[in-house]
Amino acid sequence: MSQNLSRRAALGTFGAAGLASVTACGAGQGRQTPQNLVGKELVKAADVPVGGGKIIGEHKIFVVQPSEGVFKAFSSVCTHQGCGVTAPRDGKVSCPCHGSEFDAATGEVLKPPAKAKLREYPVEVKNGAVVVV
Ligand code: FES
Repeated sequence: MSQNLSRRAALGTFGAAGLASVTACGAGQGRQTPQNLVGKELVKAADVPVGGGKIIGEHKIFVVQPSEGVFKAFSSVCTHQGCGVTAPRDGKVSCPCHGSEFDAATGEVLKPPAKAKLREYPVEVKNGAVVVV
């Protein structure tokens, strides 16, 4: 009986460890930039106004330049139920479906029902273009 208990306890421990491993791995992958976007030229830097931004519909991304020479890119897919957000305006983007608003420079939620911030993509300016890195 104690052997059965030990084996069950061992399996339980292994199962929990395996689940933790899968969960940690999945969370890590979720934050990585999709390989098909790495190296993509999103927009010419000169086409992104300081204090404003531009939606790149092809990639469902918007690029903003919150201050001179600082570029950021975020997913334009609303984290509530997946509608596309509007172009950045007055420092925020809005979702036409249920009214969520996000800070265009940080992706943070300004107004629910969305609860999660917009996904950010790392970008650099290379040869005058904003490129996903
Ligand atoms: S899908 Fe954007 S607020 Fe609901």
